[in-house]
Amino acid sequence: MTDISPAVRDKLIVALDLPSVADAARMVDALGDAVTFYKVGMELTYAGGLPFVEELTRAGKKVFLDLKLHDIPNTVARATEQVAGLGATFLTIHAYPQTMRAAAEAARGSGLKLLAVTVMTSYDDADLAAAGYALGVKDLVARRAAQAREAGVDGLILSPEEVAAMRALLGPGMLLVTPGVRPAGAAVGDQKRVMTPARAIREGADHLVVGRPVTQAPDPRAAAQAIVAEIAGA
Ligand code: C5P
Repeated sequence: MTDISPAVRDKLIVALDLPSVADAARMVDALGDAVTFYKVGMELTYAGGLPFVEELTRAGKKVFLDLKLHDIPNTVARATEQVAGLGATFLTIHAYPQTMRAAAEAARGSGLKLLAVTVMTSYDDADLAAAGYALGVKDLVARRAAQAREAGVDGLILSPEEVAAMRALLGPGMLLVTPGVRPAGAAVGDQKRVMTPARAIREGADHLVVGRPVTQAPDPRAAAQAIVAEIAGA
């Protein structure tokens, strides 16, 4: 494992989808130097996770704060500044032009990078129509991806299946980050469309978000090391 560069190791982001800070801290301890990048979502954030985010960044770990901001521009800008102050590396926002412009302006000059969520993967065309949208999922994803780039957002969260098409559409400048990654043989759980780490990287993903295949593994550290080795091999 020692010959793997930090840039390659950073491609694996482990989702700390755990109910308490104590559980998350135990997991981070168990993973040790095998994992350098963590995703903290709403569950852990609302369970007192923000001081833990600062602990992680002080310990030299990178943090993806998955808060999916969407509000009026002033509120989004102020929240973005607060997140930048925590030392987080990535923050998610919903891909509405106002929201993206406000967040991009607020994040400028900080180390914080913004990732836009185009259309939630739980939505299909019928859900969008019911919510009043004229476009289907595919067209709305493409439109919002282009708007994200125009707004100065750094990257997108995508399902693995969308990565290749988005890479072709957007070129190399945008970060593409994908959940729904499963090593061959791992339990798929509730994920419907999954891809192996090697394939997702070859399709053009910059970072992979992996939760249960690491955190629920009998040996989480070994599971993370195997994924990093697969990424390095890709
Ligand atoms: O455990 P698992 O590897 O499925 O976790 C994937 C992570 O990515 C979870 O934190 C989940 O909420 C997130 N995610 C996802 N699919 C999306 C968006 C986010 O699995 N479309």
